[in-house]
Amino acid sequence: MTVDDLLAPVLTIDGPSGSGKGTVARAVAHKLGWHFLDSGALYRAVGLAAGWADLDFSDSEALARCAAETQVTFRSGHVGDEPRVLVNAVDVTDELRTETAGAAASAIAAIPAVREALFAKQRAFRVSPGLVADGRDMGTVIFPDARYKVFLTASAEERAARRHKQLSEKGLAVSIDGLLREIRARDARDAERAVAPLRPAREALLLDSTGVSINEVVERVLGLVTAKS
Ligand code: DC
Repeated sequence: MTVDDLLAPVLTIDGPSGSGKGTVARAVAHKLGWHFLDSGALYRAVGLAAGWADLDFSDSEALARCAAETQVTFRSGHVGDEPRVLVNAVDVTDELRTETAGAAASAIAAIPAVREALFAKQRAFRVSPGLVADGRDMGTVIFPDARYKVFLTASAEERAARRHKQLSEKGLAVSIDGLLREIRARDARDAERAVAPLRPAREALLLDSTGVSINEVVERVLGLVTAKS
């Protein structure tokens, strides 16, 4: 890591699942030519690896060791495409997006030692010319010194409808009511946990994407970067 990297600007985009932050963060990173950190993918990867190793989800020490040892690689393909994600050299890109991986991620994310094990791994993504970091605690814990901070939300109903559309497009039939229940349960777990709960950084720009197109949100976020540069 060079001095340039230490000083590289960071834009944090935090918010709940389904707020559109992943798509927005990726698009903004692409437009700015900056690096991109999908921190949720790290938690999902550790959740999967813990499942593979048949770890007891109440054994914090074993889970923290798993978080420290799991190798997560993001492999970019064509520009604008979602990168492939490898966990210990196995391509898990599709598996990572399942509700099972999300639930495992949410469970291990509540363990302080797991979050600690992932701290330096996330900070290492700060590389020149800049980083867009997507997650729950990017602006509050991992990059409190970020120059730009956004907190993106959307109503639980809209997030369930978006997820339903995504799954239907993949040919998966699930009930929208079930998705809504899962989203509310996960929101409550993420917001109420003792460590790094989901909440906006004090200085974050609050954006609600309910009824707003992704392009419009991307423009608003790019506007923040231009205004503060
Ligand atoms: O953004 P996502 O749905 O991929 O995140 C999966 C889970 O990981 C989510 O339930 C909460 C957790 N997470 C976290 O605690 N901190 C982060 N920075 C990112 C994700």
